[in-house]
Amino acid sequence: MIVIEKIADLQAYIKEKAAKSVGFVPTMGALHDGHISLITRCVAENDLCVASVFVNPTQFNDKADLERYPRTPEADCAMLQAAGCDVVFMPTVQEMYPEEDTRQFNFGSLETVMEGKYRPGHFNGVAQIVSKLFDAVQPHKAYFGEKDFQQVAIIRAMVEQLNYPIQIIACPIIREESGLARSSRNTLLTDEQRKKAALIAQVLTKSTTFVHSKSVSATIDWVEEQFKDDAEFRMDYYEIVDGNSLQPVQNWEDSEFIVGCIAVYCGKIRLIDNIHYKG
Ligand code: PAJ
Repeated sequence: MIVIEKIADLQAYIKEKAAKSVGFVPTMGALHDGHISLITRCVAENDLCVASVFVNPTQFNDKADLERYPRTPEADCAMLQAAGCDVVFMPTVQEMYPEEDTRQFNFGSLETVMEGKYRPGHFNGVAQIVSKLFDAVQPHKAYFGEKDFQQVAIIRAMVEQLNYPIQIIACPIIREESGLARSSRNTLLTDEQRKKAALIAQVLTKSTTFVHSKSVSATIDWVEEQFKDDAEFRMDYYEIVDGNSLQPVQNWEDSEFIVGCIAVYCGKIRLIDNIHYKG
């Protein structure tokens, strides 16, 4: 595995390899089994697997969140190598943003809900960096986790808008033994918070049994209720949406693809998760 810091070196290396298919996994590092599941799939499906590790400042609307974001470059490289990754791209902020990126994307109603609503500017920053990375790597396939359900929809929309010949592959959520969705931010939780945070997945899983017994709005009320007793939790949102349009559904019959998406603070740490109700 080779570690590359400059875009020009990355492009030269990929060109020289002349691989039939190049797969790409963008990450912000502090890697865990969730990320590695994407790498494993990318390695299996491509001749060359490229991963990036870059904590992208433009997608953090909260400066404190950016500052405390975990950074573990050595451990990341060891995990990537063990998973069979061929190339790790680890640029500096200066390399990716030699000048300010003033591009404003428009994702319409996809970005006015959920993460887009609660983290203004977040998806614009994601689109800025992912488009720069796509330009640098020019992959045939790019792998994203369903953990960030809305991010996948935004990336698909961006690929369409910019006409990238890149296939976007969405991969399932990998969870800790307790059910908690794996996240780089989990390491910022205290042991006690980490145990408590298992409630998120438990509540979502239980709520899927209500599809035939409760209305959509009663299910939302029930989910919200489960986080009210413990002062450690503060909910940003819980929404039950059409999996393609990301707009809230009123009835279970409204769509064949229905997903519940949650964002909840556990102490100071914001956690997200989602579950399929239909589709
Ligand atoms: P990051 O949070 O590091 O996640 C990188 C990729 O790993 C994303 O596609 C994310 O959905 C996936 N992932 C994270 N946790 C996962 C889990 N438990 N199961 C499955 N997949 C998981 O998402 C980003 O970085 C950034 O926004 C990025 C796309 C790199 C742009 O900066």
